[in-house]
Amino acid sequence: NTDGTAGGAPDGVRRRDFINIAAVSFAGVGAAAVVYPLVNQMNPSADVLALASAEVDVSQIQPGQAIKTIWRKQPVFIRNLTEKEIAEANAVSVGSLRDPQTLAERTKEGKANWLITLGVCTHLGCVPLGAAEGENKGEFGGYFCPCHGSHYDTAARIRKGPAPKNLEVPEYEFTSDTVVQIG
Ligand code: FES
Repeated sequence: NTDGTAGGAPDGVRRRDFINIAAVSFAGVGAAAVVYPLVNQMNPSADVLALASAEVDVSQIQPGQAIKTIWRKQPVFIRNLTEKEIAEANAVSVGSLRDPQTLAERTKEGKANWLITLGVCTHLGCVPLGAAEGENKGEFGGYFCPCHGSHYDTAARIRKGPAPKNLEVPEYEFTSDTVVQIG
């Protein structure tokens, strides 16, 4: 088959060219190669649109569980803290923190168990792992960022690693006992 033979060789050449070009590109953009997966990880699927606010039913989130939702194209963690996790957060000497905040300052009055934060590491923007991933809560029981090892505690305050700030608490309010409006 003449077409097949003729078509095969150029394909091979193109493939080698591509590999060479790719190798050169990666060599030249080491920094970009590191950053890309971080950016990609934050990029929500195409069916998630930016919304002004998001209403979330939290009635199924048991103590010790968390969900990740999307708000304005950013991951948001909604976590139902256990009594033990609340006690751990309150036992910390706030003055010793890098970004000093009490759990009460990061939650709503009477709802200290509901910790709502952006799921965006304040170092370079990776999505930390947390309650939803079970064993990946890190050294301080909150969230662990796998990119460069930042540890956040049960109030999502930075405790160890390169991140400068606590996980950000977005604007939100409870519109009922079980519904949170974010934004
Ligand atoms: Fe999280 Fe660097 S992006 S530790």
